[in-house]
Amino acid sequence: MPGPIKVIQSGFRYEIVRLICEGGMGAVYEARQLGIQGFEKRVAIKLIRERFTSQPDFAENLVGEARLVADLIHTNIVQTYHLGEVEGSPFICMELIGGVNLEQFVQRLADRKRKLPVELAVFIVSRIARGLAYAHAKSDRFGKPLGIVHRDISPKNIMIAWEGDVKLTDFGIAKAAGYLKSNEGEEVAGKAEYMSPEQADFQITDKRSDLFSAGIVLSQLLTGQNIFRGPTVEDSRQRVIKTPIPDFTQLNPDLEPRLNAILQRSLARDLSQRYASADDMLYELEYFIYHRGYGPTNETLGKFVRDLFQHDPTRSARDPGKGATSRITANTKNASKSGTRTTAATVRTRRTTKSTRSPKGLLNRIRSQFK
Ligand SMILES: Nc1ncnc2c1ncn2[C@@H]1O[C@H](COP(=O)(O)OP(=O)(O)OP(=O)(O)O)[C@@H](O)[C@H]1O
Ligand SMILES: [Mg+2]
Repeated sequence: MPGPIKVIQSGFRYEIVRLICEGGMGAVYEARQLGIQGFEKRVAIKLIRERFTSQPDFAENLVGEARLVADLIHTNIVQTYHLGEVEGSPFICMELIGGVNLEQFVQRLADRKRKLPVELAVFIVSRIARGLAYAHAKSDRFGKPLGIVHRDISPKNIMIAWEGDVKLTDFGIAKAAGYLKSNEGEEVAGKAEYMSPEQADFQITDKRSDLFSAGIVLSQLLTGQNIFRGPTVEDSRQRVIKTPIPDFTQLNPDLEPRLNAILQRSLARDLSQRYASADDMLYELEYFIYHRGYGPTNETLGKFVRDLFQHDPTRSARDPGKGATSRITANTKNASKSGTRTTAATVRTRRTTKSTRSPKGLLNRIRSQFK
């Protein structure tokens, strides 16, 4: 590769303003990325928990995976902007999504006793398939396929923006987590009840594993249940490997046979029977929703999700701590409370103590330098 024509040495300053949500591996915050003369951009920052970063090789693997996914630029994928380090722990700066994750969305439907229209369920999974088709096909600049597999397609990693865009988060994270103790094939990464059988059985996975997981998400949206969820992680893992795949029209008599056929193909344990690619799955999902003519769009889904959460778009989409959106789940309720406590104005950064190193710690300032 030819050398650069010019080098710009710069630094980023991020001010964390609000805890969005805490997840298994870390916490996601809303932050302001500051530039010169009052320039600011809202971003999301994921801080990885200390118990992960202290595992040998984890940070190295996270960096390796982040490098792979850095150039994934697609409307159905949350874009990674930057991987930095604060006080010895890596953090990921990414596109900030104003909206909810699919788990919150499903929970809200249940709370409000509302049904998700079938075509919107299929639309959501078609957008997931679209993001996957792009990522699975991604090559390096020499045309060599990168072999990207998400490995953790599950409702918490699927965001629905208030505008109706569906976005996949955490590309590369599950893979890095899979390295925590050993290489893939010996250690599983992901959530058991959304895993493919080959992943649950500690085998090497390829892109078709993500299609099985997308099939689980679709079946859940269409029937209201995840057929693999068991009382324990191990039960769920065993069910993914062994539970016979039901005729979904028995679980939901309104389900069209064409959708049952799509589910059967995505949930085929025999890899030769499963969709060979996300493109194939995407085609059948889109055919289902559009073959009669007009079908669902981002606008229809956006209207549905805003209505479900009584989200007022005239209020800042980035300020869900106010108004109806602060009530979406217990987690987010807590998040908005923490957000009040951790405004940039009220917090001073302490030096490397245990509490400031953890995602829960009060960090209001992150500096990262380009190297
Ligand atoms: N870029 C983003 N913009 C806005 N919210 C986000 C963004 N990325 C993640 N979130 C929210 O933060 C939550 C926590 O994310 P995180 O990935 O840390 O944990 P998780 O997905 O809930 O669980 P896991 O750790 O198993 O992936 C997500 O569920 C989602 O609601
Ligand atoms: Mg996640």
